[in-house]
This record gives sequence, C-alpha cells and structure tokens, in this order.
Amino acid sequence: MIKSICCIGAGYVGGPTMAVIALKNPHIKVTVVDVNQERINAWNSENLEALPVYEPGLAEIVAQTRNVNLFFSTNVNLAIHEAEMIFISVNTPTKTYGIGKGMAADLKYIELCARQIASVATTNKIVVEKSTLPVRTASTIKSILKQSQNNVQFEILSNPEFLAEGTAIVDLLNPDRVLIGGDYHTQEGKNAIAALTDIYKNWVAADKIITTNIWSSELSKLTANAFLAQRISSINAMSAICEATEANIDEVAFAIGKDTRIGDKFLKASVGFGGSCFQKDILNLVYIAKTFGLNEVADYWEQVIVMNNYQKSRFARKIVQKMFNTVSGKKIVMLGWAFKKDTNDSRESAAIDIANYLIEEQAELHIYDPKVTQQQILTDLEKATNQTTNQLQQQIKIYNQTTNIFQQAHAVIIVTEWDEFKNLDYATIKTQMQQPAFIFDGRNILNPTEITQQGFQYFGIGK
Ligand code: NAD
Ligand code: UDX
Repeated sequence: MIKSICCIGAGYVGGPTMAVIALKNPHIKVTVVDVNQERINAWNSENLEALPVYEPGLAEIVAQTRNVNLFFSTNVNLAIHEAEMIFISVNTPTKTYGIGKGMAADLKYIELCARQIASVATTNKIVVEKSTLPVRTASTIKSILKQSQNNVQFEILSNPEFLAEGTAIVDLLNPDRVLIGGDYHTQEGKNAIAALTDIYKNWVAADKIITTNIWSSELSKLTANAFLAQRISSINAMSAICEATEANIDEVAFAIGKDTRIGDKFLKASVGFGGSCFQKDILNLVYIAKTFGLNEVADYWEQVIVMNNYQKSRFARKIVQKMFNTVSGKKIVMLGWAFKKDTNDSRESAAIDIANYLIEEQAELHIYDPKVTQQQILTDLEKATNQTTNQLQQQIKIYNQTTNIFQQAHAVIIVTEWDEFKNLDYATIKTQMQQPAFIFDGRNILNPTEITQQGFQYFGIGK
C-alpha cells in the first residue's frame, strides 16, 4: 500500500487534487512541490484567503489537512526521493516558439520533471501523468526514466484530471469517472494500476474507476475537452443564427437539451469559451492530426476554435455597432474578468480579447471582478495590448467593488456570470448612467423583459 505521494506542480490541478487525495487518505503523506517559491508560500499562508487558487470548498480542506498529511514545499528532490508514487501535474502550454509554434503542447516542463525523477530516485517509483498530454507522451517519459543510473524500476500510468475550475472540489469529491491508463499486460503494470485504484477507492465507487491502455487514457482527455468545447462552439454558432432570425438561443438550447441523446449540459451560449484548457488542448489535437497527415481531421477540430474566436469578436463588434458605431471616449463598465464564475483564473478569458478590442476603439474601461486581482488584470492587458501599465491607465480603471463604478457610464457589459451580477440593483444603476443606458449581457444572466422595462437598451447573446 502506498504511504508517500509527491506531486510536482502546485497549480490549479496539483493543489486541489492533492488536497482531496490527502483528505480521503489520512494514512498517506502527500507532498506538493513547485519551483515557484511565491506559490508555495501562498499555499502555506496562514491566511486561507491568500491561497493561490480560489475554489469553493478548497480552503476548508486545506485547513483540515495541511501540515497533517498534506505538505507544500519547494524541495522537489527530497519529495521525489521520499515518494513511492509521483504525480506530474505541471503546465503543458501551447508552444510559443520553434516547430509547432502556436499549436503543439510545450512539453519542456514534463521532460524536466522526468529527468529530475531519473536522477534523484533511488527506489522504485510509480510515475503518474496528471497533466494533459499528447497521446504517446508516456513513451517519451519512459525513455528518459530508463536513463536512470540508480537501478530503479519505474512504472508509468496516465491519470488525466477532469475537474473543471469553479467546481473543482465537487468534481473531485464526486467524479463522473476516474481514468487510469497503464500497462495491464504486465504484472508490474497491473500492480501499479491497483496501487492507484486503491487510493481512489477510498471515496470513489469501484465502477467509476476505469482502466484502459495508456494511449487510450492520454487521448481520452484531449477527446473529452474537444467534445465539450465543440458543444459550446455549436451552440454559439446557433446563437448567431438566432440573432438574425428572432429565434431565442436559450429556448433552442432548452428544446434540444430535452433530447436525452443530446442532453442539457454545456449548451449555454456565451461570449466564447476561455480557460487554460480548451483552446490549448484542441490546438494540440489539431497538431497531432496534422503530424499523422490527417488534415481533414485537423481542419474539423480547428473549426471549434475558429468559431470561438468569431463569437468573441462578434460580441465586441456588436457593442460598438449598437452604441452608434463609436465607443471612443465612452465609459464602459466590464463586469467580470475570470473565464467563468467561482474561479480567480483569467487564462484565455474572453474578457481579455473583448477589452483589447474596446481599448483599440478608444473606449474607457472600468473593470470589476470579485476574485481576479488588479495585478492579474493589468498583466493580462499588458500582454494583449502591448502597452505598459502607465499607458493603459489612461484608458482603464480597475475596481475592487462596484460602488461608484456605474456613475456616468454609457454601457455595462457582463463578461463573467458571477452570481452577484444577477442581483445588482439595475433600476438604480440605470439612473446613474448616461442615457440611453446599454447593457450587453455576454452570459444571458439577466431577464431581458425586466431589464428592458427598466429602460435599458438590452442585448444578450442569441436573442
Ligand atoms: P498551473 O500553471 O496552474 O500549475 C503548474 C505548476 O507547475 C506551476 O506552478 C509551475 O511553477 C509548476 N512547474 C512547472 N515545471 C515545474 C518543475 N519542473 N518542477 C516543479 N514545478 C514545476 O497549471 P494547471 O492549470 O494546474 O495545469 C496543469 C496540467 O493539468 C496541465 O497539463 C493542464 O492542461 C492540466 N489540466 C488543467 C485543468 C485546469 O482546470 N486548470 C484541468 C484538467 C487538466
Ligand atoms: C474544462 C473541462 O470542463 C474539464 O473537464 C477539464 O478538466 C478542464 O477544462 P474548465 O475550463 O475549468 O474545464 O471549465 P468549463 O466549465 O469547462 O468552462 C470552460 C469555458 O467554457 C468557460 O469559459 C465557460 O464559461 C464556457 N462555457 C461552459 C460556456 O460558454 N457554455 C457552457 O455551456 C459551458
């Protein structure tokens, strides 16, 4: 039975995943390591509000397990040395250089981990791929681990993570399935699969723990994300048709979702999907297809991204068009910056592209998000606009509450579906704004009839 786990990478996946494993396996010592000292300090912070990842329910679990059987450290070598099982949970972003630039997954962090494990390990280890990886990455990891000079046996498993941000703890506590890919033809492979299964069995029903070969497991993760993103692009494509025909996308989604073959989840038309996974993983899939000469397959999946980019720019263009074709010098309030509610993550958030577009149109942006820090919003905008903070500050202002934000605004745009935006006092807000007062609801969270009755010019998605 495993008694000691190490997880390399203390990010959005490593932190919450290991917190739940520690909670459900009090007999296992779980050490989460990272090269980022600041991040580790934040995980170790006395102030639970300062944890680097915001997820409902996470702080409570960290409070219960930290320094009991859950530890956060920068001492990667020691944690590798002590562990019987090592999860690799480092980032695998889209490559920004060289071959595959803008498409392929950058596996340099994965390779560094494998090399470090090979050089440090002096006892047998089970190495678990937790990061999302191109199919057949396990063979690369295996080749590197084989170079170890220490006469150590390594067994490799793929155990992709399916949690969604904002609901990570609920997803981890009650997963639809746990997928374990391994070499089930050898005794060592079977033992490794059994060791990982035992960890999950402490809270996940046995029939939800699925075993496949390692390549199927790696590919299933990319496939799941591609299918999910495809649904959003499909409904967003229909939202454009709704706007042209007076059909209503929420009604269409409801009607088709009643078909049990289609199902009602992931059919919410929006300003476009964001997050660190969907775009990166589809681009990676497209790259893999191209590598195998499967150009039609690549084109098929690439269209999901094309449609998502179209949706983001369509929304931004609509704002300008409805506001009499100019937003220059106009005050626009942006509600939300995170890529979805209940997370402090803004990676690939649609908010970034929309803000960039409006800044180019010389709008004055007043931005509020309940969880994304001011510094993060500035960093995102610096990257997107190629402007310095000083330059940006002539056109943007960031708030940490909504008091006073609406005074003299020409328009409010809702980019993230935070619950608190549903319950704002829009009647009062209307009286504070310039007239006509516009609301662009990129998440369809407001009641169009009520908002229009209050005197707003209301524009949702697909209605
Ligand atoms: P992240 O950027 O939040 O965290 C990764 C961490 O790994 C960083 O803190 C980084 O400093 C650390 N790291 C990188 N190289 C290291 C090394 N050599 N040694 C020690 N630490 C190192 O990333 P994330 O969002 O947690 O994603 C991690 C992986 O999980 C990715 O492959 C991603 O595709 C996948 N995934 C993410 C989600 C999600 O919702 N974020 C969900 C499922 C799967
Ligand atoms: C996704 C997958 O859901 C998860 O299984 C995987 O492990 C990581 O990638 P995540 O990106 O964290 O999770 O959140 P998700 O809920 O999938 O939302 C992604 C984006 O799609 C968000 O911007 C969200 O607002 C948007 N979305 C989601 C829609 O626009 N409409 C929907 O119906 C659902």
